[in-house]
Amino acid sequence: MTATRTHYCGDLRAEHAGRSVTLCGWVHRKRDLGGFVFLDLRDRAGLVQVVIDPAASPEAAAAAKDVRAEFVVRLAGTVAGRGDNVNPRLPTGQIEVRATALEVLSRSQPVPFPMEDEVDALETTRLTYRFLDLRRPALQRIMMLRARAAKVARDELTERGFLEFETPILTKSTPEGARDYLVPSRVARGSFYALPQSPQLFKQLLMIAGYDRYFQICRCFRDEDLRADRQPEFTQIDLEMSFVEPDDVMAITDDLLARVFRETIGVEVPRPIPRLAYAEAIRRYGVDNPDVRFELELTDVGDILGTTEARFLREPYEAGGRVAALRVRGASLSRKELDELNEVVKPYGAKGVANVRLAADGWQGGLARFLGEGHRAALRERLELAEGDLVLVVADADPATASTAAGRLRQHLARRLGLVRDGSWGFVWVTDFPMFERDPESQRWAAKHHPFTHPRPEDVPLLATDPGQVRALAYDIVVNGVEVGGGSIRMHEPEIQRQVFAALGMDEAEARRRFGFLLEALAHGAPPHGGLALGFDRLVMFLAGTDSIRDVIAFPKTTRAACLMSGAPSEVDDAQLAELGVGVLREK
Ligand code: AMO
Repeated sequence: MTATRTHYCGDLRAEHAGRSVTLCGWVHRKRDLGGFVFLDLRDRAGLVQVVIDPAASPEAAAAAKDVRAEFVVRLAGTVAGRGDNVNPRLPTGQIEVRATALEVLSRSQPVPFPMEDEVDALETTRLTYRFLDLRRPALQRIMMLRARAAKVARDELTERGFLEFETPILTKSTPEGARDYLVPSRVARGSFYALPQSPQLFKQLLMIAGYDRYFQICRCFRDEDLRADRQPEFTQIDLEMSFVEPDDVMAITDDLLARVFRETIGVEVPRPIPRLAYAEAIRRYGVDNPDVRFELELTDVGDILGTTEARFLREPYEAGGRVAALRVRGASLSRKELDELNEVVKPYGAKGVANVRLAADGWQGGLARFLGEGHRAALRERLELAEGDLVLVVADADPATASTAAGRLRQHLARRLGLVRDGSWGFVWVTDFPMFERDPESQRWAAKHHPFTHPRPEDVPLLATDPGQVRALAYDIVVNGVEVGGGSIRMHEPEIQRQVFAALGMDEAEARRRFGFLLEALAHGAPPHGGLALGFDRLVMFLAGTDSIRDVIAFPKTTRAACLMSGAPSEVDDAQLAELGVGVLREK
């Protein structure tokens, strides 16, 4: 047998019939049928059936005798058509390989779960044996898709004149709003590096250094509470451009996304991707990451319902709050289901969901008795009500609370009522974010994106007088209701940067201590610049159609930020700690 592999198992097709091949791979399954041995041989391209006939090839049959699942073998043979025994479920199902020689390269202990797409093993078992989990065809397809998406992105950006850079991993704290991972310095005792939450400052420095267009497919580290779409270390496609406006960055991103979606999963992204100002997103969808695959928009009805005797609507309205309605066409929810909607909005601070339905025999539901003829007529007109429509109302004295709660209710209803068409996509840019948001703990203003984001030029005078009203040159790209990326135009004028730090309650000394190198650079000829970062893992989740970020990362961490396979994080020797000058406070 020639030692060199000639084909991948999964690539063999009818056109290879008659060819001599050498294959290498893992034994997926072995069946012994009256002397004939059938092996399914698997590699990253797929499975092929191998037949060993002891009469034709006694050595191969002898070698196959003690072969078991997950042994690694090399075999030589001839590709032959399967005649009447075609297996339509297998891409290689038209052929089989008649083995002439077989060599066991490596043996395997029994495996804890089979290498199938669907396994019922616990996720902890799969993560502990991730090297086996990664052998499963479903994960292999995702990992190959991920590699393809990265390649397409790299090609597109390189062709558009972006230069690929690497920026430091051992660095100083970057302000993306999460906790830092810290690394103690051995040589400068008591000092720590921070792992980058993003390459934000470095990419800005590269613009100041004149490189004009930068990109990096980079790892970011954030010590934050984990969810289904968050990992402590994750990957961004990060880019930055000089002499640009928001339109330029959004147009490049539209093209990048369009090419990645087309060349990986054949989906056409609409271009230009529609844009929505933040204030409009909140008004129509209640949230800044709207799922635009379905309508069900919010309508303000405070001026109508705020004048009824219903205190739970009147009081919020009179206090300057928001009263928002959702009109659900022809929905009939049981009383119990309507009650359950209260539980959907409570976690977001709203008190409940009021309802009224325009049934054939009149108005029904809890709100009906508060509605006079005038209210009914006005509601009918505003919401364009037809018979059978259900109206759900969320109100709160704090408009933000009402919006968020109504927005989440909207998403809940879409799931509950199946409003999202299978295979549909909702791409939207949300622009003109507020510069600042109130930090509930410190009661200070905090940057909504990050403190290097440029205010809209016409809002700059408000920095000193009314920071809450300042809008930013910031934009997020949202896919199917998930924020996949975000960016902004940055400040390149030290004076505006100083005013933003001041609005954030950061004095000159603190700003110098934290970002002195950036301020210094801004004072040495900084071009106007801006950029964005796409969450690459989230992007791949969409391409792969999975709802767990752990499915798209080769070696992911659990929601407790642990790697079950390697055992990280782990304790270290006292000697190592001593060398670093680090002591550990152990809880008693
Ligand atoms: P931002 O913090 O919005 O922007 O991050 C950009 C994108 O990264 C993804 N992302 C994550 N993905 C997985 N796990 C996480 N823990 C996680 N955190 C964020 C999201 C998000 O949209 N420097 C700026 C970009 C810029 O201004 O150019 C930044 O990092 O998809």
